[in-house]
Amino acid sequence: MKKLLASVLAGTMALSMVACGGSSASSAPAAASSAPAAASSAAASVAESVPAGGTVGVCIYKFDDAFMTTYRNALTKILEDKGYTVTCVDGNNDQAKQTEQINTFITQGVDALIVNPVMTSAADSIIAAVKDADIPTVLINREPTAEQMAAYDKLVYVGCDARQSGTMQGELILDTETKGDINGDGVVKYIMIQGDPENVDAQYRTEFSVKALEDAGVKVEQLDLQRGDWDRNKGQEIAQTDLAKFGDDIEVVFCNNDDMAIGALQAIQAAGRTVNKDIYLVGVDALDAALNEVSNGNMTGTVLNDAEGQASQAVVCMEELLGGKTYAEGEQSVYVDYVKVTPENVSEFKK
Ligand code: BGC
Repeated sequence: MKKLLASVLAGTMALSMVACGGSSASSAPAAASSAPAAASSAAASVAESVPAGGTVGVCIYKFDDAFMTTYRNALTKILEDKGYTVTCVDGNNDQAKQTEQINTFITQGVDALIVNPVMTSAADSIIAAVKDADIPTVLINREPTAEQMAAYDKLVYVGCDARQSGTMQGELILDTETKGDINGDGVVKYIMIQGDPENVDAQYRTEFSVKALEDAGVKVEQLDLQRGDWDRNKGQEIAQTDLAKFGDDIEVVFCNNDDMAIGALQAIQAAGRTVNKDIYLVGVDALDAALNEVSNGNMTGTVLNDAEGQASQAVVCMEELLGGKTYAEGEQSVYVDYVKVTPENVSEFKK
């Protein structure tokens, strides 16, 4: 921050306007407008003269995650295009390692941090560390609780409301010809392949996908629920075991993300089953591979988890923090909308 202000005074860098509230975040709570009046007007005057540039440390929970790879690439590009010096590090799914990386960034005196926590349970110590060092911080993708975030007012979470994606998965099934009840026995039998249950995205998608069916008056029966940790191979293994065990009883395969759904699809095809004919399959993320399978009819649908939208919103929030904005308790989560992807609209999402 000091470095940034010095640059402003020296007038050596191009000016960059900061857009508050970000148009990409259509369902964002009114965090920008709800900051105390004095703080927000002070923030606005500084924000308008904050140049892009400065150093940003980005911590990703693990590079070997399909969705976070798309996200990380989008985020790095946006930051670099704006003139920031970005260092992006791989936490290797190891919280101790990531904590060390955060401490190193703090020692180096980065201007801002963007952190995708390995464990949301570690958010308390992450937040205490960045607060102590007074570094504006944007958390992404893994949402801590509002209480945890309230400890530091220069901290905001940018992500999505995972309840929405779960509900949309349920709706994708309700939109099918049989509403998921392929064998017409009045009960939709499903298996649930879950992400890492420590992550609220996994908890909510699991809960709300099924709730959408129940709310529509559809009877459901869970044949199995297993954690696939967001991983394609695990998705394949779980689906393979369940298909061998439950056979034609499985009418719906819910996967908390697309990578696991792509794995499940391999098992479904190997078992001689045909998606949309004798089994339904849904994921979340709208990875390129999943968009192809939705087009080909090998996935019933998916839900866009807007990596670009979240990355650009994270940068908007980071710049607001750099401009002096603070976030009040209970207003520290900024959400980007999910979008349902079906065979009818899938072409709109292909790049
Ligand atoms: C995505 C998953 C990803 C996870 C990582 C979720 O929002 O849907 O694909 O593995 O985030 O935390």
